Amino acid sequence: MIIKNGNTFHLQGRNISYIFTVSDAGDLLHYHFGGKLGDKDYSASVGNEFRKLICFDGDNALDGIYSETAIREYPEYGHTDLRSPAYTVENKYGNTITRLKYKDFVIKENETASVAGMPSVYKGDKAAQTLEITLFDESIGLEAVLSYTVFDEQDVILRSTRFVNKSDSDMTLESAYSASVDFDKRDLDIVYFPGAWCREREFVRTPIPFGGKVEASNARGGSGHAMNPFIMLCGKDTNEKHGEVYGFSLIYSGNHSSVAECDQYGNIRVRQGINPFGFEYKLASGDVFYTPQSVLAYSSDGFGGLSREMHDIYRENLCLSKWAGKDRPILINNWEGTYFNFNEEKILSMAKKAKEAGVELFVLDDGWFGKRNSNKSSLGDWYVNKDKLPSGIEGLAKKINDEGLSFGLWFEPEMANPDSDLYREHPDWIISVPNLTPALGRNQYMLDLSRDDVCDFIVKSVSDILSCAPIVYVKWDYNRMMADMPCKGYNHRYTLGLYKVLDALIRKFPDVLFEGCAAGGGRFDAGMLAYSPQIWTSDNTDAIARLKIQYSTSICYPLSTISAHVTESPNHMVHRDTPLKTRADVALAGMFGYELDITKMTDDEIGSIKDITEFCKSVRTLVRTGDLYRLQSPYEGNYCSWQIVSKDKSEALVFGCRILNTTNTKESRLTLDGLSPEFEYTDTVTGETYGGDELMNRGIVPDYEEIDFATFVKVLKKQNNASEVNYEVFR
Ligand code: GLA
Repeated sequence: MIIKNGNTFHLQGRNISYIFTVSDAGDLLHYHFGGKLGDKDYSASVGNEFRKLICFDGDNALDGIYSETAIREYPEYGHTDLRSPAYTVENKYGNTITRLKYKDFVIKENETASVAGMPSVYKGDKAAQTLEITLFDESIGLEAVLSYTVFDEQDVILRSTRFVNKSDSDMTLESAYSASVDFDKRDLDIVYFPGAWCREREFVRTPIPFGGKVEASNARGGSGHAMNPFIMLCGKDTNEKHGEVYGFSLIYSGNHSSVAECDQYGNIRVRQGINPFGFEYKLASGDVFYTPQSVLAYSSDGFGGLSREMHDIYRENLCLSKWAGKDRPILINNWEGTYFNFNEEKILSMAKKAKEAGVELFVLDDGWFGKRNSNKSSLGDWYVNKDKLPSGIEGLAKKINDEGLSFGLWFEPEMANPDSDLYREHPDWIISVPNLTPALGRNQYMLDLSRDDVCDFIVKSVSDILSCAPIVYVKWDYNRMMADMPCKGYNHRYTLGLYKVLDALIRKFPDVLFEGCAAGGGRFDAGMLAYSPQIWTSDNTDAIARLKIQYSTSICYPLSTISAHVTESPNHMVHRDTPLKTRADVALAGMFGYELDITKMTDDEIGSIKDITEFCKSVRTLVRTGDLYRLQSPYEGNYCSWQIVSKDKSEALVFGCRILNTTNTKESRLTLDGLSPEFEYTDTVTGETYGGDELMNRGIVPDYEEIDFATFVKVLKKQNNASEVNYEVFR
């Protein structure tokens, strides 16, 4: 609900309030973001604590409050506030001094804000309202429209900003954050998610130093392995279950920046948006610039509460594909099984075996096109390699269908190898700067998606393949970072080109399930999730490494977006040997598949795979739609566990892993979460029953096997509802 009471704007979600006021001087002063407050005009209470602070000359004060000391809504730099700004614009006089003042507002009923050219959270069947505040700087003719959406039954606020040049002369945006939020409290930690290839999204928590800042930014092209566009701010005592936490997630796949900074008075300012480094946007007279959307969330129930909030909104109101709301097929992907070394016969033999094990979809990965037998050639040549696949993609897809599986295909459409017909024909289509040999990454160049002809080529070449055969799934890969950007602001233009291409393709092929990928999880962000309901989480498929990767990915992103495959042991990345059960148990908490040479497996192993697949089918709706409760963090010790509970609390899957075996120790009890204390639950394997109150207060004692990397998975069903699935058989 949006309430305007006097000079107060108040956005009320289910349990939250976001409040700011307009001062008599026309400045937007932030008042509160957090637990829900009542409806009143808070403008008189704003800033009393700031009035006594010494700063600029009194004449510049906003109703006695110096802007530099206040907590503000969308601050500028350089007039009476010298802190880090939400935006910077160079005007025709060559300076960047600006002062946006409140002009008017509009409330849009039953609408979420949309952002031109970029994905955003949509309304779906939720009740939502959008507030637009127009600010204007008369001295230079700049308008900024701040957009805020609130949902009646969620604890999130969507924010974005739109700039309009209302003057007769050009101006240049040098930075334009989507949101800026000031907190007049000092004792906050920041949690952010840096990483690298094969160890994406590590959970890092650190205090925000007085007078200093923590910057979680990335300028490597895509949103990146190195830093995810999601941060949290939390109280010192906040943990998984308890305490205040604020989430900031950017719906964007390019260079991004999230900065938390503490000023001289101990106020903390958080800004999130496009990374200003290397950014610039020329605003000619009448031009409009949209920032991406930032999703702000709040919970007083710790990181777990915040995750469940984010999961609901991203699961239900972000992805444009119908697959977002559907169970995903259990797939087998040939990459780790064959790499580039396959032919039609090999693929069909894998598909046949996979079918025996109950698999539903075969995904043919890299190497099916041009002359591609290694990563040195053919990206850009999206026509089949008949030496490997004599019946073509059409013939192969039909044969796979005849085996009883559907068919999916890998593409990396944003790239071209120097050794490709595409590059030979269009050397000017790659990203480059004059007088410098373009940098190669994984032996490939990047195509210039800021050009319409390049975008059209991609849409056409992918469409031609998708139209020639019954292809139901596309893995959309992106395997290098962006270098040699030809001008400031290029990365944003590229990102808009990418969204245009993806938008065209998902509209043209609405039945196809797109999976995002970027050398593993190098572009795991809410922007890509708008087009692909699931994303390949990491090229590191080792079950033990995946505990951390999946755990921290799940803080922002729902399990329905996290692709997880069972691969060979020893693992190809970390060379660790882990039991099949462990690999399967970990992968079950995601969108499940296999990625190994199934033809090399023994009959016993195939039997196990069959059981796993059958079990996965029985829990996949629960995994996709349930509430996640993380119970033990792999960042904190030898254990990792989580639990997925159906919305009606009638069913739960509990997973646990003891990483290294211990001798002569007693397992501690593990208390569960999120169940109904009133229900009786039955363990579907042992038949034992427990009260929900017992499970949540007294807990269970995990019965780990005496091995390293031991795991268990338990399904608990509300009594009289137990299934017959016996998952323990393949232990
Ligand atoms: C990337 C992906 C892998 C695989 C290869 C193919 O590394 O993350 O899953 O598709 O590319 O080259």
